[in-house]
Amino acid sequence: MSQDFEPKNIIVTGGCGFIGSNFVHHVVREHPGVHVTVLDKLTYAGNPENIAGLPEDRVELVVGDICDAELLERIVPGHDAIVHYAAESHNDNSIANPEPFLRTNVEGTYQLLEACRKFDVRYHHVSTDEVYGDLALDDPARFTEETPYRPSSPYSSTKASSDLLVRAWHRTFGVRATISNCSNNYGPYQHVEKFIPRQITNILDGQRPKLYGDGKNVRDWIHTEDHSSAVWTILTKGVLGETYLIGADGERDNLTVLRDILTVMGKDPDDFDWVRDRPGHDRRYAIDSSKLRRELGWKPVHTDFQKGLEQTIAWYTEHEDWWRPAKGATEAKYRAQGQ
Ligand code: NAD
Ligand code: TYD
Repeated sequence: MSQDFEPKNIIVTGGCGFIGSNFVHHVVREHPGVHVTVLDKLTYAGNPENIAGLPEDRVELVVGDICDAELLERIVPGHDAIVHYAAESHNDNSIANPEPFLRTNVEGTYQLLEACRKFDVRYHHVSTDEVYGDLALDDPARFTEETPYRPSSPYSSTKASSDLLVRAWHRTFGVRATISNCSNNYGPYQHVEKFIPRQITNILDGQRPKLYGDGKNVRDWIHTEDHSSAVWTILTKGVLGETYLIGADGERDNLTVLRDILTVMGKDPDDFDWVRDRPGHDRRYAIDSSKLRRELGWKPVHTDFQKGLEQTIAWYTEHEDWWRPAKGATEAKYRAQGQ
C-alpha cells in the first residue's frame, strides 16, 4: 500500500478562473493545513474577485504567465505540488484564433513540467474529456481511460497535446504526475461565454438564449464542487503515472438544459433563438468514471442536476456585479460570428 501524499504548500495555476477558483475555495474550506499559491495571468477569463475574501495567510496570488520559465524558477521551489488548471478553455475562441491555445496549453504545460522535473515537485494535470473526440448519440459506449485520443477542435487538440507531454515527462524523466480528464462543469464563477452562464445572463438581460445547430448535442454535466473533490482525491491518493476520468453520470442534451433554464426562470421554454452551429461541433461526450470510484473511493455528491442548476441560476441572479463587466464584449463577439 502506498502512503497518501499530504501536500502543505501547493501552486494552483489558473486559480482565478472558473474551475481553478472553485478548487481554491474547496481547499481552503476542506483542508485547513494547506497553503495555496495561485499563479494566474489574469487573461479575460481570470478574475481576482473569484478568490477575494479568502484568508491572506492561506492564499497568495502571483500574477504571471505559466510560460515564463524565469518566474517558475523563482516561485516553484518550496512547494510540494502544482495543480495545473490554467488554460485557454473555450472552443469557440479556439476556432476564431488558435494561437493562444498552442502557447498556453502546450508551451505552458511544458514549462510547468520542466519546473517540476528540476525541483522534484508533484504535478497534477487537469484535462478534459474532449481529448477523446465525440460519440454518436446512439453509441452505448462512454469514454474510459483506454479510449484512443481523437480531438476535434484547436482547444481539444492542444489539451490532448499537453496530456501527452505529461505522460512522456513521467515516463522519461520520472516526474511525479497524474492526469484527470473531466466532463463539462457548471456552477458559480463560470465565464459568461460558456453555455449555461450565457443563457442565464441573456435571460436576466432580457435577451433570448442562443442554441447552436439542432440542440441535440449531449454534454455530461458535473458540478464544479465534485470536480474539486475528485482532483484533491487524485492529488493525494492517485497512483503516479495514472490517468483518471472524472464524471457524474450527468448526460443531457443542450435543448433540454436550455428549456430547464427557461422554465426555472419563469419563461416560455420555446423562447430562444436557433443560431449558426459551431464548426466541427462535437456531438456527445460521456464519461465512465468507475476507475476513480473503484480504485480511489471518490464519488460525486452534487448529483441532483435540477437543484444544482437552480442554485447556479440564483448565483448569477445575485451576482450581476460579477458578470456584468464581461457580458457586453462577449455578446458582441458572438454577434459578429452569427451566434
Ligand atoms: P477558465 O477559462 O475559466 O480559466 C482559465 C484561467 O487560466 C484564467 O484564470 C486565466 O487567467 C488563466 N490563464 C490563462 N492563460 C494563462 C497563462 N498563460 N498563465 C497563467 N494563467 C493563465 O477555464 P476553466 O473552465 O476554469 O478550465 C480550467 C481547466 O479545466 C482547463 O485546463 C480546462 O481545460 C479544464 N477543464 C474544463 C472543463 C469545463 O467544463 N470548463 C471541463 C474539463 C476540464
Ligand atoms: P460550451 O459551454 O462552450 O462547452 P463545450 O464546448 O466545452 O462543451 O458549450 C456546451 C454546449 O452548448 C456545446 O454543445 C455548444 C453549445 N452552446 C450553445 O448551444 N449555445 C451557446 O451559446 C454556447 C456558448 C454553447
